Amino acid sequence: MAHRKPLVAGNWKMNGSRDTATALLAGLRERAGAGAPFGGRVDCLVCPPYPYLDLARATLEGSGVALGAQNVASQRPGAFTGEVDAGMLLDFGCSHVIVGHSERRALFGETDEIVAAKVARALEAGLTPVACVGETLAEREAGQTEAVLARQLAALVPAIAAAAAGAVIVAYEPVWAIGTGETASPEIAQQAHSFIRTRLSAGGVASAAAVRLLYGGSVKPDNALTLFSQPYIDGGLIGGASLVAGDFASICEAAVSAAQGSA
Ligand code: 13P
Repeated sequence: MAHRKPLVAGNWKMNGSRDTATALLAGLRERAGAGAPFGGRVDCLVCPPYPYLDLARATLEGSGVALGAQNVASQRPGAFTGEVDAGMLLDFGCSHVIVGHSERRALFGETDEIVAAKVARALEAGLTPVACVGETLAEREAGQTEAVLARQLAALVPAIAAAAAGAVIVAYEPVWAIGTGETASPEIAQQAHSFIRTRLSAGGVASAAAVRLLYGGSVKPDNALTLFSQPYIDGGLIGGASLVAGDFASICEAAVSAAQGSA
């Protein structure tokens, strides 16, 4: 199996202030240590709201912690009031961008096609998209989990197949586990990750084994290790716990332990 370095990403969602962002990032820096974060054994990414990106860039300078945004326009620069271009994110030190989070799909009308266009635009500009997929509770209960994942992935496959190996990260976030405290069991998560990797491969992504698959949905310090110890779970996309420096750092350390355990 291709070696995939674990990645732990924090999605702050619409939370924080200048003060809390500064304190959170300073706390994370301290726990991550000097040199590469956590000894360089896990990639670490934070995704604050747009207005705090520049502050985050300055606070994280030299730390090795990567910076990402939570959304991006599908268009190139122009008359798109209220939108933010991928090139602007690069300009502010971002290397990554979360695309197609379930909150954007459910609350802001992002279709599979819009998500795919955003992934393509991010790649074109040189950003690494973290593309989110996942089923709702109703879909899971109706036995549609794999059909939903297959549909969401089918839209993404052309962009992923055309990109360099590992240039797209996929996050599996079952909607019923987001912010609910109800985490997918390691077996359920592993099963979904296995399905996702198989679909990428079947869809024509030659480098499917190099795609990092993150799990998201109520990941906390006390459940991170078991989740990350699953062979197809390459790290996590963390919501609530990413707002607490100590919790986020502990989750990063769990990813290091899981990788050591499987080495
Ligand atoms: P929680 O970790 O708060 O459940 O959020 C997960 C998420 O949506 C990350 O993108």
